[in-house]
Amino acid sequence: MPFFEVQNLTMVFGGLTALDNISLTLERGSINAVIGPNGAGKTTLFNCITGLYKPTAGRIIFKGTDITGRKPYKIAAMGLGRTFQNIELFSHMTTMDNLLLGRHLHMKTGVFGGAACFGRRSPAVQEEIAQRRKVEEIIDFLDLQSARDRFVGGLPYGTQKKVELGRALATEPELLLLDEPVAGMNLEEKQDLVIWLKDIQEVFGVTLLVIEHDMRVVMDISQQVLVINFGKPIARGKPQEVQNHPEVLKAYLGEDSVDQMTGAA
Ligand SMILES: Nc1ncnc2c1ncn2[C@@H]1O[C@H](COP(=O)(O)OP(=O)(O)OP(=O)(O)O)[C@@H](O)[C@H]1O
Ligand SMILES: [Mg+2]
Repeated sequence: MPFFEVQNLTMVFGGLTALDNISLTLERGSINAVIGPNGAGKTTLFNCITGLYKPTAGRIIFKGTDITGRKPYKIAAMGLGRTFQNIELFSHMTTMDNLLLGRHLHMKTGVFGGAACFGRRSPAVQEEIAQRRKVEEIIDFLDLQSARDRFVGGLPYGTQKKVELGRALATEPELLLLDEPVAGMNLEEKQDLVIWLKDIQEVFGVTLLVIEHDMRVVMDISQQVLVINFGKPIARGKPQEVQNHPEVLKAYLGEDSVDQMTGAA
């Protein structure tokens, strides 16, 4: 049984076919990339997988269960986390509180549940302490101590991207979907993030599916790359296999450039 599978997924908006017969299989514990030009359908694929969009056709199977069309919170509760292309955080809350919100899937007493009412030894307080400990681990792991008690809205963009990754990690996902995690980061931040992504795979055993435009990052981290263009799958395989695929070069560089490179008329 594959860990995660997308079978013949199609998504039509009015007259526009944003995804056209996409299939993909992920092995547990692997890092996989989705690449393709702007508007190719990458984010739409994530929105279908996470339940934000109900696909027109096809199936999504996670750990042997058909999750196609299920509600986003039910899919998240099964262990499927994500980050968004445009950062989705509570900007007037601190890093700590944003990460604590990521823990709500694992809380029995609710996010701000009655902790105030019952003394230190109450189950609610004990649970709050346990959740905070978990969040502190993530803050340490992502080197976010200096941002810990600051409002997220005032943090540099690259740090906000890290907080969003931390919030997704706080849900303890088995499969994590990252939509352009290094976009807008400087070189040093990118290099750090690549190391963290590898650690998330190796140390936490999380399977990753990453949309990324930076080809150096894609080549460095992925075991498998899916390339889509105008919603259609045009190549799939190891990074070295797809990087010189004629269809991929055409999609990125245009027909003429490829003809010049290959010497075609
Ligand atoms: N909710 C929607 N309603 C109508 N059209 C949509 C919707 N969501 C996406 N689309 C269209 O589907 C196509 C694919 O969009 P999508 O955002 O998935 O591309 P992308 O590959 O993520 O691009 P980018 O690299 O720019 O983020 C685009 O033409 C977009 O306008
Ligand atoms: Mg996108």
